[in-house]
Amino acid sequence: MKPFNVYPINPINIVKANGSTVWDAEGNAYLDLYGGHAVISIGHTHPHYVQRITEQLNRIGFYSNSVEIPIQRELARLLGEVSGKVDYDLFLCNSGAEANENALKLASFYNKRKKVIAFSKAFHGRTSLAVAATDNPSIVAPVNETDNVLFLPFNDEEALKAAFESYGNEISSVIIESIQGVGGIREASVSFLQMIRSLCNEYNAVFIADEVQCGYGRTGLFYAQDYSGVDADIYTMAKGMGNGFPIGAISISPKFEAIYGSLGTTFGGNHMACAAALAVLEVIQQEKLMENAAQVGQYLIDELKQIEEIIEVRGRGLMIGIELPESLAHVKKDLLLKNRIFTGEAKPFVIRLLPALNITKEHADQFLVALKKQISAVTVA
Ligand SMILES: Cc1ncc(COP(=O)(O)O)c(C=O)c1O
Repeated sequence: MKPFNVYPINPINIVKANGSTVWDAEGNAYLDLYGGHAVISIGHTHPHYVQRITEQLNRIGFYSNSVEIPIQRELARLLGEVSGKVDYDLFLCNSGAEANENALKLASFYNKRKKVIAFSKAFHGRTSLAVAATDNPSIVAPVNETDNVLFLPFNDEEALKAAFESYGNEISSVIIESIQGVGGIREASVSFLQMIRSLCNEYNAVFIADEVQCGYGRTGLFYAQDYSGVDADIYTMAKGMGNGFPIGAISISPKFEAIYGSLGTTFGGNHMACAAALAVLEVIQQEKLMENAAQVGQYLIDELKQIEEIIEVRGRGLMIGIELPESLAHVKKDLLLKNRIFTGEAKPFVIRLLPALNITKEHADQFLVALKKQISAVTVA
């Protein structure tokens, strides 16, 4: 047996990691500005994280949701505090797709409706309804196809108003990434998010903020969408939540009533995942990582904007998209192979930076020097 070959992979075997440095099997060090796809939030092998998970594993690693799991309450309390949504409830699951699936389902249980509004270039995951709300037909299998999802152009207020006028009483939920990740680091306007809020209020539809990639402190705010000044009814999260330990969650406004059996999971909320998530929040709080993300992120954005070959710099905090012209398409690969710096990408020519929230200005400078070098190497050649 061998792994099912669905991932195009870099021929690098990472065997060790610390903070924002990872090492391959030959002992070469790399700067990690990708965080394994926005997952590493507090840095690799953070000592507090390692200690908390190790201690938990030595006590108990798992028991199901059929018994009391006090560490879930601890996590809910701290997440409420750090996110500022103290009166929301927490449902724990295992991944981003699962979080969105549960959010869409909870919305539909709530208002007994079927239609979902999603947006162009959205990515919400690969499970059945999450992928149906994802704007990428190549990953939607025939069995996932549904007429219940209505795609509208991102940031198009007229289209949104018209959709509610036509289908208002059938719309169960609106799901949006306030900053699209896979879509290329594109930000929803404040007025668009405010309009979603007011139309959802008017039509009793549910506003779902997909914070799986943009959330968890990455932009300098706990939920990226907080920049709009309006609350969502459900926030979905995963990636940075466990710093690599699989965990996802939805934060649920008090207007939803919990009904036994309506949502459920075997692994979600297990002791190990909760210990990992608590360690992450404790480090975010104690080491002021949201402030650091805002500061180092703004420094990077300001410096990147000075580079004239870059078409556009988008994003907030440590969620940054660098749009390059086609002639600089292989800069991302050069950063990895010639400078040993991991970055992410979005099609067609966007470099995505999704580093740990505790990267330093020195890390940022190391990246800027390498980027300028690769850009000028291509420009001169
Ligand atoms: C915005 C967003 N939502 C959902 C997901 C799906 O998360 P997962 O891969 O954990 O299922 C992703 C993953 O990239 C994402 O970026």
